[in-house]
Amino acid sequence: MTPYEIRRGDPGQRQQVEAWLFGLDLVSEAVRERMVTGWISAWISSSHARLEDIPYALAAPGYQLARHVNEVTRTGIALARSAMEEWRDEFDFDVLVPILAMHDVDKPLMYVRDGEKVASSRLSQELPHGVVGAMLLKDLGFPHLVVSTVATHAANAPFHGRSLEAYVLHYADFFATDRTCMREGATPFYQRHWR
Ligand SMILES: [Fe+2]
Ligand SMILES: [Fe+2]
Repeated sequence: MTPYEIRRGDPGQRQQVEAWLFGLDLVSEAVRERMVTGWISAWISSSHARLEDIPYALAAPGYQLARHVNEVTRTGIALARSAMEEWRDEFDFDVLVPILAMHDVDKPLMYVRDGEKVASSRLSQELPHGVVGAMLLKDLGFPHLVVSTVATHAANAPFHGRSLEAYVLHYADFFATDRTCMREGATPFYQRHWR
């Protein structure tokens, strides 16, 4: 059984993703289409009926993945703009924006919903978070930097990419994640020191 199918969805579903996903106006038409199809594919292949039903983490089931994704994209764009101004770094938004906006595209498939209850999926024990998203992005034709950065972005990945894009994603993701941890009463990553 394949864990997901690439699907374009119906116009209503595409409209919902377009209305929600931040960053679509920062990329070319071809990239925009691929980003929307990527989220539609993960959503339709999942057990979640509505986009807003998809949780960000089991530890915070009430916190929507949809919110986290936009927080990370907006923060990442702000960080990239700061790096461009401070250090004259350069970013291709057709690469950076999909890295930010698609980094957690496999999360709908990592959790299964049964009514009000959410649990880890069987797939999440077969392939790690990030890797499934990278497979999906590869299927959609995204470039290697997008695929490899998403594959290795998770906190427990064996290593993280060395590109500026991987660095921006890391801080944007953890900036947003840590704020959610604080709100939910969990220890944020920046305070989890080795002892
Ligand atoms: Fe992630
Ligand atoms: Fe994330």
